[in-house]
This record gives sequence, structure tokens and C-alpha cells, in this order.
Amino acid sequence: MAGTEAIGDGDVGEEAPANEGFANGYTFFRSFRHEPECFVPTFPPLQNDLLLRTARGEATERTPVWMMRQAGRYLPEYQEVRSEHAFFDVVQTPELAAEVTLQPIDRFPLDAAIIFSDILVIPQALGLEVEMVSGKGPHFPNPVETPGDLERLVDPDVDDTLGHVFDALTLTRQELEGRVPMIGFSGAPWTLMAYSIEGGGSKNYKQARAWLYRHPEAAKTFLQRMTDVIVEYLVGQVDAGAQLLQVFDSWAGLLGPKTFRTFALPYLEQIVDGVKAEHPDVPMIVFAKDAPYALESLAETAYDVISLDWTMDPQAARLLVGEKAVLQGNLDPCALYAAPDDIRREVQHMLAGFGSQKHIANLGHGMHPDHDPDHARVFVEAVREQSEQMRTVS
Ligand code: CP3
Repeated sequence: MAGTEAIGDGDVGEEAPANEGFANGYTFFRSFRHEPECFVPTFPPLQNDLLLRTARGEATERTPVWMMRQAGRYLPEYQEVRSEHAFFDVVQTPELAAEVTLQPIDRFPLDAAIIFSDILVIPQALGLEVEMVSGKGPHFPNPVETPGDLERLVDPDVDDTLGHVFDALTLTRQELEGRVPMIGFSGAPWTLMAYSIEGGGSKNYKQARAWLYRHPEAAKTFLQRMTDVIVEYLVGQVDAGAQLLQVFDSWAGLLGPKTFRTFALPYLEQIVDGVKAEHPDVPMIVFAKDAPYALESLAETAYDVISLDWTMDPQAARLLVGEKAVLQGNLDPCALYAAPDDIRREVQHMLAGFGSQKHIANLGHGMHPDHDPDHARVFVEAVREQSEQMRTVS
């Protein structure tokens, strides 16, 4: 299937009309996505598969690097696009999403592109309205307040409601010209439920957490509705060109070991198992932020990579997860506010903690809007240089 082959296989599908001028090729792809025998998108061969090899657990010549929220407001070229287009217009317009996705790739020697979208497209697909309020973040004008509100949810046709993300992936993968692999993503059910109930960001998400005790069965119904859509959504992303997938459980830290086992883990497992049933070779990353208690159980799932935030010590995490999983992370994004030499020293410390193999370098969370792009460059270049040196001396 397109998007899942290793480098060298060429990711080549059958000759398809997409090749006759791509401008309309991706809209064509959208209508024929479910008939792969008559249409498989064709992509340029991948030139840098370091991230994919590392994610599969292979030994590599250096540590791959990318940054969560690498496309975003700290880049003046992103701000320029946003000065003319609303956030969700960028997400919903494949040409704009592709442009913004490529901005950090054109600037820095990164080892992956992550498609420009948002985790909140899933609640949107389920019929919830989501606005992005500048300076404040996401806002749900009509949040899910009571179990009765679940009746407002719709059963979406994933192609109709989220096809713009598939189109953006196909177009971006073409425009990448094989420079680096393309990461697709989704939010995890618990994190999306927390936003949908709370109506946006919140200090302690106590309404969402209260649901787990007051309405446990309704919570499970809600989580399952999202899980079913997420599996279809991620499978569709791979069909459209994503070569690796990350699931963001950004609010896992609001749970405890017991609530995580009941309300997060089973759904995270359904997601990885459901996607791998269709695309067994696509590496998958899980990021359960602020949830060190979850590491051991995540290591027993089929996720290939476990992403760590900066509060976790890499060596302690390695002891908890064992040898199999690849680890990703985990420089504190605030370290990028330091002077370049200090950033280099922090990178050295991070790389030494993870060791030279089975590690994908990243931040422990996303870029901040007031980060200096030059400091992002220092981070990326330091990982490349120092991780190569680590291998020559060891
Ligand atoms: O990583 C990338 O470069 C890809 C793009 C991406 C965005 N959001 C773009 C975005 C990804 C992977 C996300 C995921 C996302 N969205 C998460 C999970 C990661 C995490 O940070 O934990 C979450 C929790 C969201 C929800 C969300 N979207 C929030 C809380 C906000 C506001 C953030 C803020 O700092 O104001 C957004 C908006 C958003 N998503 C922006 C971007 C670039 C900024 C919006 C703007 O341009 O005004």
C-alpha cells in the first residue's frame, strides 16, 4: 500500500491520473480512496528514511530529529499565512496546510514533516463546533456538558468530514519530493473528551475528570465513539500518504494509574491494533504527557515508539519500558530560550541520557510562539552533529 513501503520500494502505485497535473490529482484521489485497485497515489522515492528505520528499532548512523509544533507561530512565514487566513481555514485548505507543513522543512535540516492540522478536528467531525480564539486557544461554544448531550454527536463519514486532511497529506507528500517522511497524527480519546467536556483549555479539567466518576458508562460511550472515528481517520491518513503516526494524549497527566487503565489505555490499544490490522508496517508513536505511571503499560502495547515529556528521566524511562520500545523526546521546550551554547550542552545531556540507539530526538512538548527560530536550528543541528560524533567515539 502506498506510504508503507520501505525506502527503495519507490512507494509506487499504478499509473494514475494524479500524474497528469497534480493540481486536481488529490481531489481525484479523494473520490477514489476506497478503491485502491483503481487508484493509488504515486509518490517520489524517499531519500531520508532515518526516522522510519529508527522507529522500527533498527540501528542507525545518527539520531533522527523533529519538533512537536515545528510548524507554527514562532515562524514569521507561518504568521504571514495566518495574517490572511483563519486557523481552521489553513487546516481545511490542502494547499495552505501543505505550505505551512513545509515551512520548517525548508528552513531546518529536520528528519520528518508533520502534517499541519489539529487534534480537535475529531470533535469537529463528531459535530461539535470548535473555534480557535487568538491568544486563548480552542473554544467549544456548546460543550458536551451532560451524558444527554452525547445525543448531539453525529456518526461522521470520515472521508467527507476529514478528507481535507487526507488531501493535505497527499499533496504535501508530493511537494516534499521524498526529502523526509510524512507524519500523520490524531489526538487520543481521553484528551479529546477532556476538551469537549470542558469547552476548551482549563486549569484542572475537573468537569471532564468528574465525568469519570459520575458518568463512567457515558464516558466510555463517548471515548468509544471517538476511538472508532480515530482508527478510520488514521488508516485514511496512511492511505493518503502518512508514513508514521503519532497519537497525542496531551492530558494523560490528569488521570491516575487507575483511571488511565480504565479510560485511556484500552482506547489507545484499540487505536494501535485497529490501525496495524490495516497497515502493520506503519510505525506508531504514543505521547502520554505527564504520565510516568503509564510507561510500563504503554510498553506492552503495539506502539513502536513512546514519547516522553521533559519531566521524565530517559534512563529511568528505559528501565520501565524495557528494551523493545524506541523512546522519543524530551528536551524541555524552555531550554530553547537559552543561549546557543547552553542549548548545545542540554542536547548533549539529553543524547547521553538516551544513548545512541532507539532514540528519536524531539522536545518534551511543542514549540512556543515566542521561540527564536534560530534557536530551533541550534537544537536540530546539535542533535545531528553530536549524535554522529557519539557513534564514532563509542
Ligand atoms: O506539530 C506540528 O507542527 C503540527 C501541527 C499541530 C498543531 N496542533 C498546530 C496548531 C499539531 C500536531 C497540533 C496538536 C495539538 N493541538 C495538540 C497536541 C499537542 C500538544 O500540544 O499537546 C493539542 C493539545 C492541540 C489543541 C490546540 N490547538 C491548542 C491547545 C491550541 C492553542 C495553542 C496555543 O498556544 O495558543 C491549538 C492551536 C494550534 N494548533 C496552533 C497551531 C500552530 C496555534 C494556532 C494559531 O495559529 O493561532
